[in-house]
Amino acid sequence: MPSQQVFNGKDGAVYTTSNGAPVKEPYAAQKIGFNGPLLLQDFHHLDLLAHFDRERIPERVVHAKGAGAHGYFEVTHDISDLTCAALFNKVGNRARTTIRFSTVGGESGSADTARDPRGFAIKIRTEEGNLDWVFNNTPVFFIRDPAKFPHFIHTQKRDPQTHLKDADMFWDYLSQNPESVHQVMILFSDRGTPDGYHQMHGYSGHTLKFINAKGEWQYVQVHVRADKGFKTLTDEQAGKLQGTNPDYGIQSLFEAIEKGEYPSWTVYVQTMTAEQAEKFRYNVLDLTKVWPHAEYPLRPVGKIVLNENAQNYFAEIEQAAFSPSHLVPGIEASADPVLQSRLFSYPDTHRHRLGVNYQQLPVNAPVVPVANFQRDGFMAFNNQGPRPNYQSSILPLSYKAKAYEGTDERHETWIGNARLQLSEINELDFEQPRALYKKAMDQTARDHLISNLAGHLGGVKSPVVKARQLSVFAAVDQDFSDAVAKAIGHPSVKPLPAAPAEKLLRLKTNIGLVQTIQ
Ligand code: HEM
Repeated sequence: MPSQQVFNGKDGAVYTTSNGAPVKEPYAAQKIGFNGPLLLQDFHHLDLLAHFDRERIPERVVHAKGAGAHGYFEVTHDISDLTCAALFNKVGNRARTTIRFSTVGGESGSADTARDPRGFAIKIRTEEGNLDWVFNNTPVFFIRDPAKFPHFIHTQKRDPQTHLKDADMFWDYLSQNPESVHQVMILFSDRGTPDGYHQMHGYSGHTLKFINAKGEWQYVQVHVRADKGFKTLTDEQAGKLQGTNPDYGIQSLFEAIEKGEYPSWTVYVQTMTAEQAEKFRYNVLDLTKVWPHAEYPLRPVGKIVLNENAQNYFAEIEQAAFSPSHLVPGIEASADPVLQSRLFSYPDTHRHRLGVNYQQLPVNAPVVPVANFQRDGFMAFNNQGPRPNYQSSILPLSYKAKAYEGTDERHETWIGNARLQLSEINELDFEQPRALYKKAMDQTARDHLISNLAGHLGGVKSPVVKARQLSVFAAVDQDFSDAVAKAIGHPSVKPLPAAPAEKLLRLKTNIGLVQTIQ
């Protein structure tokens, strides 16, 4: 890392106290006589214990277990028609990049091959500041209303009393919130158990906005596709590895890079104008839906290569602080409420996990100078010297932020009303899961999905929860639900009632553009 000291054992370093004084014997505590008590004057010993006592910082509340590495992002195609971000203004531009991959629900010591979505967090250090793309390895998510997130996460973690993971909690939430079914079906396919961290795709999931130099904007979805394809493990392989090598993902990433087998990805965007969004079958801000590739083709942008392992995991990966709100001019968040909520949540948790000056840590510090009026706080090691700490008329800071105009306010209004419908389930919610099951999956994939689901849902004790989740699957496809039911010895269940899509689509047409699609 820039400004990160490299200790490689060959630097002739002398063992010292934390204030840099040489120590003669690292393994000895000072004491009186042969068996006497220890001495308070022994700063080396006291400091050693005191520092050790404070070694642990809070682990991430989600995505606690992970692995990461450094490399670069290179622009391979001109997209200046889409965005004025300086990174994308020339083919061949390169930016130093760090990626952290993670599982979601488990603690920092949990197994890398657990059935879980994977985090795919990318920090691209551009000359206009750091651009973080905090993605997952799935194109959709469980929720589209951020108010549900903490409740949802609690049900995927441990029971407050037993401190055990609990299949009833897990399915109780999902069966009550059927908009999750698309992500649930991906999770219980073999994509839920990727082969390591570096052999999978990443997706923005959210709709972003790219703005060009003329102030014109488009909706964008970003896809980061592994050049060697998305490799998965079967449930059996993943389960075995949980016991034999819980750090399988960390190890395989580290070893691939050490061997020079650098993982690489091609970055694509899908784009949609505001006008197209109004005609789109789904709400463009609904995180549970994908944009069909046939209608919105993937357009190549660049590549990412990871070619450098961290010298120090804690400093360079654990302390890395990614946020969807770390954006650069020309790339903005859309009004997707889950994304809007995340813009707050990540810097908030970083201030708790790493401190108010987390952006000054070497792994997080932008490669360009930071100049603002933030001062002090714990660990302010770049406190901006004598520069004024207010907007001074004598020694002003110069402001150079890119300005663009022309955002289509009308569409923002349309977006505003979409929020009201977020928790309402309708027939459209089952179309894409149905296509996933009937068209995207082959018979083997379907068989794996059914047996993976049966393995988990079969452990639910509550008959209400079991039947309700089967009714969600029946809304996707009756045969699918019946196959899961048969595998867990349950009678067939009818689909849950959902509002008809036609009614909602008509509602949209009647009210015109100022209404949601759903
Ligand atoms: C990590 C909140 C949804 C991807 C985290 C963390 C929080 C959080 C608090 C821990 C960050 C840290 O301690 O460094 C939320 C909230 C969400 C949400 C409130 C919804 C309301 C999502 C979605 C995605 C996502 C939809 C992907 C599309 C990630 C990733 C990490 C993460 C990749 C790990 C970052 C790292 O490696 O440091 N999230 N999250 N999250 N989240 Fe989310």
